[in-house]
Amino acid sequence: MDNSIFEKDKQYIANTYGRFPVAVKSGKGSIIYDIEGKRYIDMGSGIATNSFGICDDEWTKAITAQLSEYAHVSNLYYSEPQVKLAELLCRRTGMKKIFFGNSGAEANEGAIKAARKYASDNGKPSQKIITLVNSFHGRTVTTLSATGQDVFHHDFGPFTEGFDYAPANDIEAIQEKMFKDGKPDCAAVMVELVQGEGGVLELEYEYVKELYDLCKANDILFIVDEVQTGNGRTGTLYCYEQYDILPDIVTTAKGLGGGLPIGAVMLGEKVANTLTAGTHGSTFGGNPICAAGAYNIISRIDNKLLLEVQAKNRYIIEKLGKVPGVEYISGKGLMLGIKTTRPAKEVISTCIASGVLVLSAKDKVRLLPALNIPMDILKEAVEIIAAAINN
Ligand SMILES: Cc1ncc(COP(=O)(O)O)c(C=O)c1O
Repeated sequence: MDNSIFEKDKQYIANTYGRFPVAVKSGKGSIIYDIEGKRYIDMGSGIATNSFGICDDEWTKAITAQLSEYAHVSNLYYSEPQVKLAELLCRRTGMKKIFFGNSGAEANEGAIKAARKYASDNGKPSQKIITLVNSFHGRTVTTLSATGQDVFHHDFGPFTEGFDYAPANDIEAIQEKMFKDGKPDCAAVMVELVQGEGGVLELEYEYVKELYDLCKANDILFIVDEVQTGNGRTGTLYCYEQYDILPDIVTTAKGLGGGLPIGAVMLGEKVANTLTAGTHGSTFGGNPICAAGAYNIISRIDNKLLLEVQAKNRYIIEKLGKVPGVEYISGKGLMLGIKTTRPAKEVISTCIASGVLVLSAKDKVRLLPALNIPMDILKEAVEIIAAAINN
């Protein structure tokens, strides 16, 4: 085996990733080939990013068509792919305006800026934002601050101030942080409805409803980070739909671009005009190629596909739920965490050796396959995963 890629990676690439021993050469849909020609079933889809798998034909056609028109134009000019995508997102969500960036962290930075400016514009006494313990909101200095995990809060200080953290699914605990002397003492609450990196942990329906109503009644912005849960991943276009709420701000990225970098801050009625000319921006934000790809992705996430995602969720839970060594399965749609008796790390290594790429989330095995993974390939993967768990 030619080891040069592993050696050169170690020599020339910053050591920020604990990579699995797989060097990708090519792929199609949910199948990946490594440089030795070994075949893998991809149950991670680039961490919930390749929504329709690798090199999806329609998506590739959409981005190459845009590539031959123009690859980039400054945000000082009008660009049709961006406008088309923004209109589609607003139409599908009820949000009013979109700011485009390049990543999840950048989307959350935009949401945080919008929330702080809304508080400032409206003379609010506090610009504090409350997030949840165990959340993950990104790796910039501010989104690390927003992330409710102590493990991210050292080495890179001084961190951005103005964040506080409440345990998830505990309405009294968050209420205590939201109010002081009976008056609102924060600008916004920001949550992931299924905490992805935190271990695929779902927020309870009643908790979210109560929290949302509390925010609404007190003009506290309700921000939902749908960077991972969004774009069909959890079985609805956006996960908030399953909680019967309409947040003030929704952020997304990952699966939106289907494999190209694009993020979005979706702004509801209250904050639609909060960010004004010169207050925010991004050179590459809403890049025409990425926007054309994202338009293709979002326009194909229809009811039929979402029902398929829900059916595949039931299939995985039904099959893996009865495998000895599976303690429980958490998550929604095709964003699932499997708590196994065997350490997740070992299960993942066995899966990789057997030709299936799965991920971890804390102590769980995490599955994030492409939304359109064919049923026969999913079955093959589930059998291999089951054998790795029950090893
Ligand atoms: C919920 C959530 N928010 C934000 C991010 C950061 O996204 P990005 O890596 O695109 O900056 C992630 C990435 O895993 C995420 O899962």
